[in-house]
Amino acid sequence: MNDILPPESSRWQWLEDAVRRVMARHAFRNVRLPIMEHTALFVRGIGEVTDIVEKEMYAFEDRADQHGRAEHLALRPEGTAGLVRATVEHNLLYDGGKRLYYMGPMFRRERPQRGRYRQFHQIGAEALGFGGPEVDAELILLAVALWRELGIQNWRLELNSLGQPEERRAHRAALIAYFEQHAEQLDEDARRRLHSNPLRILDTKNPAMQALAEGAPKLMDYLGEASLAHFKAVQAILDANGVPWRLNPRLVRGLDYYNLTVFEFITESLGAQGTICGGGRYDYLIEQIGGKPAPAVGWALGVERVLELLKEEGVTPPEAVPDAYAVVPDAASLPQVMAVLAQLRAAGVAVQMHASADPAQGMGSFKSQFKKADASGARFALIFGADELARGEVALKPLRAVPGQEGAPAQQLCPLADLAGLAARIQSPLAA
Ligand code: HAM
Repeated sequence: MNDILPPESSRWQWLEDAVRRVMARHAFRNVRLPIMEHTALFVRGIGEVTDIVEKEMYAFEDRADQHGRAEHLALRPEGTAGLVRATVEHNLLYDGGKRLYYMGPMFRRERPQRGRYRQFHQIGAEALGFGGPEVDAELILLAVALWRELGIQNWRLELNSLGQPEERRAHRAALIAYFEQHAEQLDEDARRRLHSNPLRILDTKNPAMQALAEGAPKLMDYLGEASLAHFKAVQAILDANGVPWRLNPRLVRGLDYYNLTVFEFITESLGAQGTICGGGRYDYLIEQIGGKPAPAVGWALGVERVLELLKEEGVTPPEAVPDAYAVVPDAASLPQVMAVLAQLRAAGVAVQMHASADPAQGMGSFKSQFKKADASGARFALIFGADELARGEVALKPLRAVPGQEGAPAQQLCPLADLAGLAARIQSPLAA
């Protein structure tokens, strides 16, 4: 679990701002959901025989109430189950489908490594109540639009179709028969899951089992006409939009709620944790959680991984620096200075005020204040000298060279009577 501190936090905010813009353009609306839910929601939603539920959930028994009943609660390992719970609880689909997104921390007790943390952050987009392939494609195009907005180029898209439950049952029987024939090659996990969840064996990370998984019966061969048509329609929309993709018949995802289209965005730049975004259709989850049957499709991206990828690709978000640093030589001026700063801030100027670490030592020398002003990254120092203040003025000193101009630009005196003019001068990109 990580602390996210400046300047790193600026990168997070920059990413979140980009996400909000892209979501707004696609008419997705924001939801904010609890970080804890009943454990049973995740067991039912994600699936009992999954890594997340079997090994990774932070689940615990709450204190008992006055009747001695204790609730089983869990920190959310993902956002979809909670969103579906909220959809059912608030009858969100009563007037038609909804497009929603969320951002926030998720929790999985995994072995921490680069790109894999125990508290990590997801941004998720979900379209509930729409069954057509165009919405699968819309979700994928939404992610592509986000990569474009962020300036991420090194990704590939993998697609698969998991078909419908009855198609999966036929495939499952074939899978069990195949793995039983090769029982001696199965690792412990696989043996345990052979009869409870054989599809999960295809998802194995064990190198010794890759060849076995590769040779297993392909679900694609068990899909009926309707499932194939749905999958083809998604592909046609992606093709028409110039979005490259490749079929990965072994892509099964780590959660049990999917059917039909599943997809992952993967990058080569991050080593083993290369999946930056994953999702798919989950047409049966809403009913399973107790709602009226309704289709749904969505994805979630890992914020830490996307930020890491941005670093790898050399995308540097602008650092959050103040426009101006207020140099205050004399503590006696502070009340007047702070009234001026409040007005400049109300006009939209970002101002960092000098403050002393130890009031007994006064405000600090002019020189040390200037050093701080420079280190702040601000483009201007606002110098509130006592003499200037007495004349109703403040000195505005540019701290950065102006592109195309030689030498340090000159300091100017600005009347406090025209703070709007001062604010405009500070904010103008060409200001010197
Ligand atoms: P997921 O594949 O489990 O899917 O997680 C989505 C993304 O979260 C992953 O691709 C990865 O980028 C990130 N992620 C997962 N675990 C960690 C971790 N321990 N540390 C850092 N990043 C991680 C879901 O969670 C589904 N709810 C996605 C979805 C939404 N499907 C339909 N709608």
